[in-house]
Amino acid sequence: MAVEYHFGQTGIAFEDVLDLYRASTLGERRPIEDHARMQQMWTSANLAVTAWEEGLLVGLARSLTDHTYCTYMSDLAVRVSHQRQGIGRELIRLTRAAAPDATLILLAAPKAVDYYPRLGFSRHESAWILRPSDELAPV
Ligand SMILES: CC(C)(COP(=O)(O)OP(=O)(O)OC[C@H]1O[C@@H](n2cnc3c(N)ncnc32)[C@H](O)[C@@H]1OP(=O)(O)O)[C@@H](O)C(=O)NCCC(=O)NCCS
Repeated sequence: MAVEYHFGQTGIAFEDVLDLYRASTLGERRPIEDHARMQQMWTSANLAVTAWEEGLLVGLARSLTDHTYCTYMSDLAVRVSHQRQGIGRELIRLTRAAAPDATLILLAAPKAVDYYPRLGFSRHESAWILRPSDELAPV
């Protein structure tokens, strides 16, 4: 069956988004029970691409971008029933096409560490994160 792709969050029921997080397993690594937080994550993303099959949300890419220098792709999720059909790759391609001059940046989930190198991503040896619970050390 044909998969259609759309940009933006307009007209998408938040319950469908939550369902996809669960159906892809990515929900295991996101604050899925905190609906207010998940809703803010979804609505505040300024580059969302979704994949649909006959009205069913089967994949999404949720990113934050300045459209010219960097795009942080926070979430890439495809339903388990629809994985390994090229949907993830197409979601990445479209995310990139929306901001072609921007470098795509992401943190791979454990289940996807071997996925991104297959698609041509390179590991960045000087990537750093500061979690909300981490102290900002004095200089
Ligand atoms: C990772 C994920 C988004 C990939 O989406 P997908 O639609 O299944 O991937 P594609 O069909 O575009 O895969 C393209 C290629 O990568 C391979 N591949 C897919 N998932 C892979 C994985 N987890 N590890 C290694 N290779 C993988 C496919 O086999 C395919 O290669 P092939 O055509 O030679 O068989 C999807 O498996 C998923 O949602 N996983 C659970 C959530 C998750 O971990 N998301 C990533 C958050 S960083």
